[in-house]
Amino acid sequence: MQGQRVLVVGASEGIGLAVAQAAAQAGASVTIAGRHQDKLDAAAAGTELATLRLDAGDEAEVAAYFAACEPWDHLVTLTGGRWGPMPVAQTPVETTQKAFAEKFWTQYRVVKHGSGKVNPGGSIILTSGQASRRYSAGVAWLSAINAALEALGRGLAIELAPARVRVNVVCPGIVDTAIFDRMPPDAKQAFMAGLAGRLLVGFVAKPADLAAAYLYLMTSPYSSASVVDVDGGGAR
Ligand SMILES: NC(=O)c1ccc[n+]([C@@H]2O[C@H](COP(=O)([O-])OP(=O)(O)OC[C@H]3O[C@@H](n4cnc5c(N)ncnc54)[C@H](OP(=O)(O)O)[C@@H]3O)[C@@H](O)[C@H]2O)c1
Repeated sequence: MQGQRVLVVGASEGIGLAVAQAAAQAGASVTIAGRHQDKLDAAAAGTELATLRLDAGDEAEVAAYFAACEPWDHLVTLTGGRWGPMPVAQTPVETTQKAFAEKFWTQYRVVKHGSGKVNPGGSIILTSGQASRRYSAGVAWLSAINAALEALGRGLAIELAPARVRVNVVCPGIVDTAIFDRMPPDAKQAFMAGLAGRLLVGFVAKPADLAAAYLYLMTSPYSSASVVDVDGGGAR
């Protein structure tokens, strides 16, 4: 990773920030991107991380940024919204479309405009989530978004192979981030404790526990079109 240029979009907190910190620790020159400069500044304070205010939901902004930027060695996307269960029959289509816009279309937009700015030998990493292949009531919408991201990654890997750019997807299980702060604190604590007891690894991941998977995909020259599950072995 020494001297590699890494852009992590969706990295002012959570898993993205942990990935950025791990890449920087491995010697890379890392930029973290998000929509709020104050959050980025707080995340980067006292570190060598550079910041980029970028809204991946804004087509013109993303297009203009990548048209002008210097090339990257690795481009990582982790954007997504914060939603609870939404049963299909009771949820307006517009609500589900908003969830798609916040997670699928933001990541799609970054790779659409950014893939031409990845150096040969470099990589792109998208982020899906365990609902892609682990189904439960209330999150069919999320299963669809995550499955779409995994399919996008596999197809894009073929499109970018001639440019010698690898494309992979990390599929996280439950990770203790602010995504779950929409739950009352007691409920969140009970949920995490109950889950820890059912996971093969016996604990619920913190963001730093996900970082090694992203570093692995950046540095593994034989990995492309793959989806890497990092989910504590799944719940029993
Ligand atoms: N945590 C989990 O249990 C879990 C499980 C499975 C999958 N995942 C997926 O893993 C990814 C990261 O999860 P997380 O828990 O770390 O999420 P998080 O804590 O909500 O962090 C999301 C990051 O993305 C940024 N962001 C959101 N929308 C953006 C946009 N339009 N443009 C640029 N930046 C944007 C946010 O900063 P700003 O708000 O300042 O822009 C924030 O830095 C997400 O795709 C999530 O769906 C998470």
